[in-house]
Amino acid sequence: DAVTARPALLLAWYDRHRRVLPWRPPAGHKPDPYAVWLSEIMLQQTGVKTVGPYFQKFLARWPDVTALGRASLDDVLRMWAGLGYYSRARNLHACAVAVLRDHNGVFPDTEEGLRTLPGIGPYTAAAIAAIAFDRRTMPVDGNIERVVSRLFAVEEELPQAKPVIQKLAATLLGPSRAGDEKSRAGDSAQALMDLGASICTPKKPACSLCPLNDDCAARQRGEQEIFPKKAPK
Ligand code: ADE
Repeated sequence: DAVTARPALLLAWYDRHRRVLPWRPPAGHKPDPYAVWLSEIMLQQTGVKTVGPYFQKFLARWPDVTALGRASLDDVLRMWAGLGYYSRARNLHACAVAVLRDHNGVFPDTEEGLRTLPGIGPYTAAAIAAIAFDRRTMPVDGNIERVVSRLFAVEEELPQAKPVIQKLAATLLGPSRAGDEKSRAGDSAQALMDLGASICTPKKPACSLCPLNDDCAARQRGEQEIFPKKAPK
């Protein structure tokens, strides 16, 4: 039925329409956890377009976590100039130092382990765990909130609706593969991010192009734009 078909429809769409972004390796290639982490920290408060060149610059100067952990904070802050929210740069450096000192230069590969590091909160831990390590978890950002709240016509208002949306979002993860507890969680998450960025947009979503349009509750009612519902500020 529709519900069990969704994860596969989403991944099939991603395989055809996946955006090429500097931190995404070619399809089927293993992501570098350092590059995934670096991109996710930069993307926390900054858009994809702006992050691109900064990400490339950082990776060229400090190609791995060892190099970044040995750099001076001042050099990191200078390279960060223009991205804003400078606590991110301080945490970035502190995190690289912690990975060297406490983890032998290897990023922890679980959400719980990642969350112990500077600058990595619940969302970023889930994003890195899914994208870099194929952990079966769904990071929910603003784009994914919008897609999911429309698909399921979530009546509850944000921010109270967050736990409900998190649960519903997790139903879009593919089934775990036999034997190894893994799925294409990172691709599922990035598919929803891309869908939210390019099709399920805040205004005038391009529903005819959406792989999940057949059973989108908001679309069936012609009420896409009223979701996600938000509590008045
Ligand atoms: N925003 C946050 N993480 C992202 C990713 N991996 N791809 C696209 N947009 C994102």
